[in-house]
Amino acid sequence: MPIGQPSSLPTALVTGAGRGIGLGIATALAHAGYRVALSDIDEASAARSASHLSDQGFPTLGVWLDVSQADAWARAVAEVTERWGGLDLLVNNAGISPRGTVESTDEALWDRTLAINLKGPWFGIKTALPWLQRRRGTIVNIGSTRATRPMPGLFSYVTSKAGLLGLTRQVAVETLGQGVTCNMVAPGWVDTPGERLIQAEQGRPEFPQGVSHLTTAEDVGGAVVFLASPAGRKANGVILYLDSGLHIADDAGMVYLPHEKFVRYHQPTPNP
Ligand SMILES: NC(=O)c1ccc[n+]([C@@H]2O[C@H](COP(=O)([O-])OP(=O)(O)OC[C@H]3O[C@@H](n4cnc5c(N)ncnc54)[C@H](O)[C@@H]3O)[C@@H](O)[C@H]2O)c1
Repeated sequence: MPIGQPSSLPTALVTGAGRGIGLGIATALAHAGYRVALSDIDEASAARSASHLSDQGFPTLGVWLDVSQADAWARAVAEVTERWGGLDLLVNNAGISPRGTVESTDEALWDRTLAINLKGPWFGIKTALPWLQRRRGTIVNIGSTRATRPMPGLFSYVTSKAGLLGLTRQVAVETLGQGVTCNMVAPGWVDTPGERLIQAEQGRPEFPQGVSHLTTAEDVGGAVVFLASPAGRKANGVILYLDSGLHIADDAGMVYLPHEKFVRYHQPTPNP
């Protein structure tokens, strides 16, 4: 343990924390008094983001972790717990959102999406649970409005996030009585480097006009801090939507589509 850091500080491990929402979560946790391990498959970005926070005086650690590999999880959790003596909070944030319909998605894309978005959180919880049980810890999975509100063209993503919701609720039930909580935060659309790349690939370098109240990475960080707080830990097995109500709106899956696509998806189903 680094000299001068009290052992009572809680410890968090965040996946996909090199940039985007994961970095927003790590930053919020650092400000809330956590020692934060920022992990990412992109080792350089994890190290860079961890250094940026430690330069401001926050105790951080940059860790390489490909969430789809069980042995990588074993090494990452060992590194964090050896350094800081335990683990209080696991945030499964790393994820990809490739585009593809039920027809255009091939097996490789399906496998990759499910390996990162769904198998990764399972590996993480399985590996970290013994440590979380000792500290009566918290698990937060980052889902999406799309977990319950599908959108055309997001086939493997929607499937993975719906699965993650089931996993969240199942883990909450299996850990009842252990003092561990497991919840999902479901953001709406967030302007992140990953999402910018996808928009640019689709010929939309700017986020569409008319999408107001975009959720921010800081908002997601605030929700994670809340779920790990004494009040938040009364929640277990819930999905906390951070989408300004998108999930309860009619046609919630369609509102971000360009008008012509919106119309196309609303053609009445022809009779045979
Ligand atoms: N941006 C949005 O609009 C939005 C909305 C709802 C939910 N989400 C979810 O939030 C999470 C983060 O999204 P983002 O927009 O910040 O993405 P992003 O692409 O900007 O950042 C994702 C990070 O995860 C890392 N990563 C990718 N594969 C990994 C792997 N196998 N192991 C470890 N790290 C890996 C990347 O290197 C990157 O640093 C995802 O789970 C995503 O589904 C995003």
